[in-house]
Amino acid sequence: MASNRKVMVLPGDGIGNEVMAANMKLIDWLAKHRSLGFDLSEGLVGGAAYDVHGVPLTEETLADSMASDAVLFGAVGTPKYDGVPFDVRPEAGLLRLRKEMDLFANLRPAMVFPALVEASTLKPEVVSGLDIMILRELCGGSYFAEPRGIDDLGDGTKRGYDTNAYTTPEIQRIGRVGMDLARKRNGRLTSVEKANVMHSGVLWREVMTQLHAAEGDGVELSHMYADNCAMQLVRNPKQFDVIVTDNLFGDLLSDCAAMLTGSLGMLPSASLGTPDPETGLPKAMYEPVHGSAPDIAGQGLANPLAQFLSFAMMLRYSFDQADEADLVETAVNNALQSKRTGDIMAPGCEQTGTDGMTQAVLDEMDRLAR
Ligand code: IPM
Ligand code: MG
Repeated sequence: MASNRKVMVLPGDGIGNEVMAANMKLIDWLAKHRSLGFDLSEGLVGGAAYDVHGVPLTEETLADSMASDAVLFGAVGTPKYDGVPFDVRPEAGLLRLRKEMDLFANLRPAMVFPALVEASTLKPEVVSGLDIMILRELCGGSYFAEPRGIDDLGDGTKRGYDTNAYTTPEIQRIGRVGMDLARKRNGRLTSVEKANVMHSGVLWREVMTQLHAAEGDGVELSHMYADNCAMQLVRNPKQFDVIVTDNLFGDLLSDCAAMLTGSLGMLPSASLGTPDPETGLPKAMYEPVHGSAPDIAGQGLANPLAQFLSFAMMLRYSFDQADEADLVETAVNNALQSKRTGDIMAPGCEQTGTDGMTQAVLDEMDRLAR
């Protein structure tokens, strides 16, 4: 179907393929029932690209991704590639996309669907109604800053190192996104670092404080050390609204937040760049947080819901289709009342696989659209 919504589809490895195939059924549904079309291209990324091209991301796939309005991503990596050189391992393809597209703002919402309160390993009263947003800086810090490497010390030992560096503008731009998000939510922003130990943390806190003083109307800013934040997330997660943090702390804290919601299989994400001055739209990539899950890949068992929720974020943030995004999210919540994949299975529900879960969501979309 002709449209001006250019979407680059990158299923990647492992369950990325299964959950993306499921996502295509939702796209077909929207085309049929809402006349909502996407101009889809598909490419290889991660191990799938390495097998064919010897690199986890080709220049062509990168260029197609840069030229799209949004990238819809599955997952990368499997143990099969454990032995390949570091710079061409599957994850390097994902990291290169993030860096080259300058997707510095990674939004990882952790919401507990009412139907899933029992699936969390935490007590229901701790997680019920939870709705927090982890905002992870995605283009700097120890994932990218130089110097990094492994040096041979010449005495039979080596030295491996990474640099956790952040500049004032890097902190300001993620801080602004954090304040914008907080304003659209409950107005509270918690900035997380380790200013007690790390210089990058000292600067992070200083810049956030100045930014808030200059531009922070309507936002209540607080600061927290990252180790304490990890503890507070499992002790009393509802104290948070928006958490803004660096690349590495954000990686760790978002996995932790994911488990509050019952399963890593439930957490979507959006990675956004700077809005284009002409269209107002940022470059964007949408991906589930769960990864490629090699242990269950290819068996039709994967939970497709984080992929669907990532797709809903794409509808909302890249294409201004809030009604359709709401429809997908509501259908996911309703489908969970009766059907569950293994990762979120609960007594009284019917256990199903990727296809069954997808069909349950499509049935709900049919019902809601009537
Ligand atoms: C994530 C993942 C990635 C990361 C991996 C796959 C490179 O864990 O998106 O959280 O570490 O950022
Ligand atoms: Mg991670």
